[in-house]
Amino acid sequence: MFLTTSLFLLLHLLAVTFWVGGMAVMHFAVRPAAVATLEPPQRLPFMAAALSRFFVGVSVAVATALASGLALVMAAGGFARVHWSVHGMFTLGLVMMALFLHIRFAPYPRLQRAIAAKEWPVAAAQLNSIRKLVAVNLSIGVAVFALAIVGRAL
Ligand code: HEM
Repeated sequence: MFLTTSLFLLLHLLAVTFWVGGMAVMHFAVRPAAVATLEPPQRLPFMAAALSRFFVGVSVAVATALASGLALVMAAGGFARVHWSVHGMFTLGLVMMALFLHIRFAPYPRLQRAIAAKEWPVAAAQLNSIRKLVAVNLSIGVAVFALAIVGRAL
């Protein structure tokens, strides 16, 4: 493998690890800890602040994963030359990216508006739909890791 290809793979893996690992931390550690220790008027602004910072990182990770992934495909000679597992990775990766964009531009702004208006039940409902969508994306992300690593041996 050429050095530039290795660097694209490094960028790709750093980006997807940050994204999938970050979702796991938000889902399994940050949100349950906030639910256990904070009342809604503290918890909901805290979660919105944590998500706003995480989403900046995810936006960079998504752009990096897509660009480096496509660079790796080009380096391999194009989509006609890559293993079927890469086609699966690309398709599921696009689904994950669409879900992220949906979260970022639909329930998340509604969460922020509800917090600004101190409508705690509305904000809690939006955060709950974000939690479910993140759980779906986390599951797809783990499946894509399995597909990328185990799939290419099949
Ligand atoms: C959406 C656009 C994506 C494209 C075009 C893409 C493309 C690629 C390509 C061409 C490789 C090199 C495969 C090889 O050398 O066998 C690769 C590796 C990898 N990708 Fe992606 N990928 C994308 C998204 C993702 C996502 C979303 C994840 C995880 C959630 C992911 C996880 C991985 C992993 C773990 C590897 C390393 C596989 C290995 O070397 O054993 N990719 N990707």
